[in-house]
Amino acid sequence: MINLNKIKPFAEGGNRRCFIHPEKENRCLKITFMGRSKILKQNAPWYKQLRSEESFDDNLREKDGYNQRALKINDPYKWKHLAIWYGMVETSLGQASETELIRDTKNNIAITLEKYLLTYGMTAEIKQAILDLESWLRYTLILTKDILPHNIVVSDKDDRLVLKIVDGLGLKSFLPFARIHDLFAKRYIERRIKRMHARISWDLSGRKGNWK
Ligand SMILES: Nc1ncnc2c1ncn2[C@@H]1O[C@H](COP(=O)(O)OP(=O)(O)OP(=O)(O)O)[C@@H](O)[C@H]1O
Ligand SMILES: [Mg+2]
Repeated sequence: MINLNKIKPFAEGGNRRCFIHPEKENRCLKITFMGRSKILKQNAPWYKQLRSEESFDDNLREKDGYNQRALKINDPYKWKHLAIWYGMVETSLGQASETELIRDTKNNIAITLEKYLLTYGMTAEIKQAILDLESWLRYTLILTKDILPHNIVVSDKDDRLVLKIVDGLGLKSFLPFARIHDLFAKRYIERRIKRMHARISWDLSGRKGNWK
């Protein structure tokens, strides 16, 4: 079992705490906050409350997301814009989802796209990186929930910025059509790309009104 008792998380989101793996500096261990699934279930609309409490656990939803059809193919290109997933592991703080820890070429942990945009704005380099992410989504047909700037981190390679999705894999819509048919997957992805731009504009405009 991996002991995380004396380790401080390097980041946390609304649902999970993220640790650097104590033995592998390029792996990230994510642990769901205690009692988080219960709270999420309680706050969900009535039709979602019919689901089990487990289905609200971000780590288990992520596991499902990584098991999707588009990620079953044996082509390393699928990881170009996505943190690699290594499975679930037991730690002293409970079950963790183990993924690739994204760093930049200076070995710093990559900052989020949200932080990048708020610090530097929409530079030509990040515009190109967003276009690269879009091409990858259209080519691989990897399904994500809404692509939010705090769930993407900014790495770099060969003097270019490279975006990596670290959270939010899977299907947003309740209907599973996009899992089955490429045509639905394509439409679904175009919608995610459109909404990603809406969210980026909202972030850049100081978050006035509603982004959706
Ligand atoms: N693989 C990774 N490499 C580098 N940084 C990461 C990685 N995974 C997560 N992070 C950092 O940790 C933060 C929180 O992680 P994550 O988004 O997975 O948590 P969450 O609680 O599921 O988020 P949310 O609030 O979106 O549900 C991210 O915003 C990012 O800054
Ligand atoms: Mg997140």
